[in-house]
Amino acid sequence: MANHPDVKALFEPKSVAIIGASSSPGKIGYSIVNNIVNDGYTGKIYPINPRGGEMLGLKIYEKLLDIPGEVDVAVITVPAKDAFESVRQCAQKGVKFLAVITSGFSEIGNKQEELDMVKFARENGMRILGPNIFGYYASKVSLNAAFGPGGIKKGGVAIVTQSGALGIAMIGRTTVENVGLSALLSVGNKADLDETDLLEYFENDSDTKVILLYIEGVLRGDKLLETLRRVTRRKPVVVIKAGRSTRGAMAAASHTGSLAGADNVFDAVMKQAGVMRAESLDEAFAWCKFLSNAPMPKGPNCCIVTNGGGVGVMATDACEKYGITLYDDQAKLKEIFSPVTPAFGSTKNPVDITGQAGYEQYSKALAAALDNDQVHSVLALYCETAVFSAETLLKMIVDNYAKYKAAGKPILFSIIGGEKIDRTCVAVREFQIPVFPDVYQAVSCMGMLYVHSRTATAPALKAEARTLNVAHVKETIAKAKADGRTFLLPWESKVVMDECGIRMPRNLVAKDLADAKAKVREVGYPLVMKVASKDIIHKSDAGGVKLGIQDDAGLEKAYNEIMTSCKAYKADARIEGVELCEQVKLTTEIIVGARQDKLFGPTVMVGLGGIYVEVLKDVVFRSMPLSRDEARKMVSDIRAYPLLKGVRGQKPKDVEALVDVVLGLGNLVATVPEISDIEVNPVVVNDAGQGVVALDVRILLF
Ligand code: COA
Repeated sequence: MANHPDVKALFEPKSVAIIGASSSPGKIGYSIVNNIVNDGYTGKIYPINPRGGEMLGLKIYEKLLDIPGEVDVAVITVPAKDAFESVRQCAQKGVKFLAVITSGFSEIGNKQEELDMVKFARENGMRILGPNIFGYYASKVSLNAAFGPGGIKKGGVAIVTQSGALGIAMIGRTTVENVGLSALLSVGNKADLDETDLLEYFENDSDTKVILLYIEGVLRGDKLLETLRRVTRRKPVVVIKAGRSTRGAMAAASHTGSLAGADNVFDAVMKQAGVMRAESLDEAFAWCKFLSNAPMPKGPNCCIVTNGGGVGVMATDACEKYGITLYDDQAKLKEIFSPVTPAFGSTKNPVDITGQAGYEQYSKALAAALDNDQVHSVLALYCETAVFSAETLLKMIVDNYAKYKAAGKPILFSIIGGEKIDRTCVAVREFQIPVFPDVYQAVSCMGMLYVHSRTATAPALKAEARTLNVAHVKETIAKAKADGRTFLLPWESKVVMDECGIRMPRNLVAKDLADAKAKVREVGYPLVMKVASKDIIHKSDAGGVKLGIQDDAGLEKAYNEIMTSCKAYKADARIEGVELCEQVKLTTEIIVGARQDKLFGPTVMVGLGGIYVEVLKDVVFRSMPLSRDEARKMVSDIRAYPLLKGVRGQKPKDVEALVDVVLGLGNLVATVPEISDIEVNPVVVNDAGQGVVALDVRILLF
């Protein structure tokens, strides 16, 4: 396969050819040339059309090969039937990147031609963006090779979108919202280049401060995650994903599988990778705009400065929701803010400088917060009062923002009110200052800044090292496969669990009563006795199960009763003996599962187990590899976690042993790809120091 060109040539091409350039306004081949010319592309522009002539002051070349110089990028806007031929010509010309606008490939079932086209391109040292895209924008060379609106504003946000129509709409919105772009790419069918390739460029691109991804479906999920884990440590990544619906195909195989279906895995693994998931375009733009400009906070402490108690309370609630720490050293807060707060105000955080606060009081309070090293970020709230005119409000915000900007301390403003406030918002935004008419949105932006700050400063992932006798596990699996099974039998599952160091109840088979009496000490009382017979499948129905056997007398009684009822149930049943099992006291029941997720590879799940799994769906997912800390965090993220900490005088449970099960199963699935699903339900978690017992295990194979 040929060497692939540096992706830089896509973002900084020295020359662009448009194959299918048209002189007819209204055609896509016209709009693209028009945008390239009008938005001031700095390289050479070569329109190609067999008719020749001129357009927009440019010579039209009849053939690509007629172009005298090199061509870095070719934008293809010819109908689908002619597209492959254009790709062949690009290969002859030595073009590096192709942006294939043309629709009519895999999105309508024409998969093979798309595959062939990409294969040919790659074999000839070219890469393809698309097909089925609206084009792309690259700020470094002012290239607007898209058929959306012109006049794109340069800035620090890079957008990658899978949706065409939404992407075009986004260009318009960025202009209205004053969001500057470093790049915007439509990836369409993602037949070759996808989000991962582009992220790798943005990671090192100094113009890109924030990355926004609009994703509908993921193709190379494991590679995407690996890249995101790295990129989010350097730059904030915001994602909007359409479709929170189920992925039907993987529903029934296991609880883990069906719970994983409903978008939970995507949500969890993105969060784990430090990606911020926005619910709407508005939210995403607000975050991107703020994050592309805000300095990193030097610590966790945030202060709310407000002229109204109500919005202060709203902001406090929002801070809790978005994980923002409100500075709480009351003595220090008093010291900082009492000189600037009226006696009837409050120096507690939110700091309420009251409705009479004007330019001077706000400025003093914000200066006090700015000057104090213990305050690391500020939310400045304002409810409309008669004290401020629109002009003084604008001045207050502009002046104070400038001071914070110079000092490198993050601040944002939320101003609430009527028409005067709306006008002020518009005026403030002209200065690239973060201002919001909604408290929640303002706080969410600050919350995301803290998410990024935590991600960027978190220690590098230290996956927990675990030993596993892979050969032994694989041997057990091979035997099951040789039997034509895609699941393991209970005793085979026990072998796997033993290798993972996860304890199951002690059990053994005794061939008769004398044998049972001789072996019972190996299991211990209390125990459960079950009939061992291949001819009796429903043991309970046959009276073949006895619980709570406490001593030798009980053992003998249970044995005799089981034999009598099983013979009555099925006279000709061949009975091999009885199974003696340790009877485990059911305390806190947890489910732990691990599986090969179709998109993201090995993933683990932990949640409230037993019979509540499907009803409460109190489960948490993560992808592998996993650190011990992250596995602990997983367990503490379950809503039922207080049960593990010990409620109403109960002792705390052995969370560390449960964490071992999570890591053990995750590690198993990550190292033995033959296993599709493993699920332990319930894992009985004993008191701290007493370990866990896995009662029921299901292992499914590919
Ligand atoms: N080399 C150069 N020019 C060629 C050519 C070739 N091999 N074959 C055709 N052309 C010229 C045509 O003569 C025409 O120019 P003209 O206006 O001077 O006649 C121009 O290229 C365009 O071809 P045309 O046949 O008029 O196609 P079109 O403009 O109606 O449609 C596409 C072409 C690519 C826009 C259309 O096929 C398509 O895919 N549209 C959907 C695009 C889309 O929505 N993408 C996804 C967005 S998210």
